[in-house]
Amino acid sequence: MKTFIDALPKVELHCHIEGTFEPELMFQLARRNGVELPYDSIDSLREAYAFTKLQDFLDIYYQGMNVLLTEQDFFDLTWAYLEKSHTQQVRHVEIFFDPQGHLPRGVPFSSVVNGIHNALTQAKERFGITSELIMCFLRHLDEEDAIETLNAAAPYKDLVTGIGLDSSELGHPPSKFERVFQQARDQGYRCVAHAGEEGPAQYVREAIRLLKVDRIDHGNNALDDSKLVDELREKQIPLTVCPLSNTRLCVVDHMQNHPIRKMLDLGLCATVNSDDPAYFGGYMTENYNAITQSLGLNKEEIITLAKNGIESSFAPKQRKQALLEELSEYASRN
Ligand code: HPA
Ligand code: ZN
Repeated sequence: MKTFIDALPKVELHCHIEGTFEPELMFQLARRNGVELPYDSIDSLREAYAFTKLQDFLDIYYQGMNVLLTEQDFFDLTWAYLEKSHTQQVRHVEIFFDPQGHLPRGVPFSSVVNGIHNALTQAKERFGITSELIMCFLRHLDEEDAIETLNAAAPYKDLVTGIGLDSSELGHPPSKFERVFQQARDQGYRCVAHAGEEGPAQYVREAIRLLKVDRIDHGNNALDDSKLVDELREKQIPLTVCPLSNTRLCVVDHMQNHPIRKMLDLGLCATVNSDDPAYFGGYMTENYNAITQSLGLNKEEIITLAKNGIESSFAPKQRKQALLEELSEYASRN
C-alpha cells in the first residue's frame, strides 16, 4: 500500500501556507530578517508543538508568522512547500493564506500575494503543478476587519480564486460573517469555510445555509447530525478532511477512530489534506498513509478519496478532466 500511495497522483485542497513553515526555514528567515525567536534551537521549537486543542496550535502558528516580512520570504515559504509536494506526486494545490496575520504587522498585501503567486507560477513551469489561491479571514476578529481585508484584496482579484474562514472556531460561528461572504460571492469569489473541526454540526449547517460555501473545511462534527449528513450526501458537498491535524489537535482521540472511514461508508465527498504540515507531522503522503494503516483502507477507497479531491477542486474543467484521466490510468495499472 505504501508504494501505491507514494506514486498516487494527488490533489491538495486544504493547506495553510503559513502552516508549511518548517522550523529550519523559520530559523533561517529569522536570521535573515533580524527577528528574534523565543526559542533557542530548532529542537526546542519542535518541543513546543505539543497541542491539546486548536488554540494551542494557533498561538504558536501566529508567533511563527511574525518572521515573514518580505516578498522573498513568502516566495521561499511557498516554494519549499511546492518542492516537497512535487516529491509526493501532488499535481494540483489550493493554498490558503491569512492576510490579517500579516497586514497589521506592516507587511503589504502585495508582498504576500506576489511572493506566493510567483512561487506558484514557477511550480507550474518546473513541475506542472497547477494551483488556486484562497484568502482566509480570521474568525476571531470582527466582520468589519474581514470586509476591509476583502477590499484590500481588490487589486489582486485575478490572483485570488476564493475566500475562506479560519482561526478559533468556538464562539465564532459562520453567521458572524454572513455579509462579507455575500459581498465576496457577489464579486465572483468561490467560498469555503472551516466548520465542524471543534465547533458543532450547527456551524457546518450555517456555513452551508448562510455563507453558501462550495466546500466545508474539516466538517468532522457534521456526523453528529443525521439530517445534515443526508444533505451533505445528497448535494455531495465536499469535506476537506485533515487526518494528522485532527489527531495532533486532539479533535480525534486516535487515528483508528478517525471519522473519514465513516464519511466514506456514508457516501460523503471526503478528501485528504495536510492542513499545516510543518506543525502536524506530515504532508499529503503521510496523511494518506496514516488513515490507510489505521483504518485499513483498500485501494478502491484511496482512489475514491483522490478522485473526490479532483472533482471538488476549483481547477478549470479541462484541468480536472486531465487529472481524472491520469488517476483512472493509475488505478487501472496498479
Ligand atoms: N483550523 C482553524 N484555523 C487554522 C487551522 C485550522 O486547522 N490551521 C490554520 N489556521
Ligand atoms: Zn485548516
